[in-house]
Amino acid sequence: MTVERRRGPIFEFLAADHARLDALLQAALARSEQIDRGPFDEFREGLLRHIAIEKKILLPAAREARGGDPLLQARRLRIDHGAIAALLVPTPTPEIAAEIRKILGPHNVVEEGEGGVYMRDRLARAIRVFRRGFHAAAAMG
Ligand SMILES: [Fe+2]
Ligand SMILES: [Fe+2]
Repeated sequence: MTVERRRGPIFEFLAADHARLDALLQAALARSEQIDRGPFDEFREGLLRHIAIEKKILLPAAREARGGDPLLQARRLRIDHGAIAALLVPTPTPEIAAEIRKILGPHNVVEEGEGGVYMRDRLARAIRVFRRGFHAAAAMG
């Protein structure tokens, strides 16, 4: 199966969200000496929602579809999500934003990259389970 064919609707949705969040973080850091709170606050809210979708729907759906066996990368993603969420608590500084970016870069590769958890064949039957939960995610704001 080609890489393109392995990119299903979950990939399209969550990878587009990564791109949107990256652009917001970039905009928040446009003036290097200080964080622009407009785009940063939008980034923060969007990233917490994105993490909630992965944590509460995607990873449990993948585990359920694999008969209770979590994806190989699930533990690493969970640790990254915890670290990112902790960095989103204090008032943002350029140093904190740089730290978030340092975690997010490789983290997104684990999700989107070749063999990543967003790939159709990695998720298989989880797609149906995910779709069921997807409407609940939309209601999370
Ligand atoms: Fe993630
Ligand atoms: Fe993600």
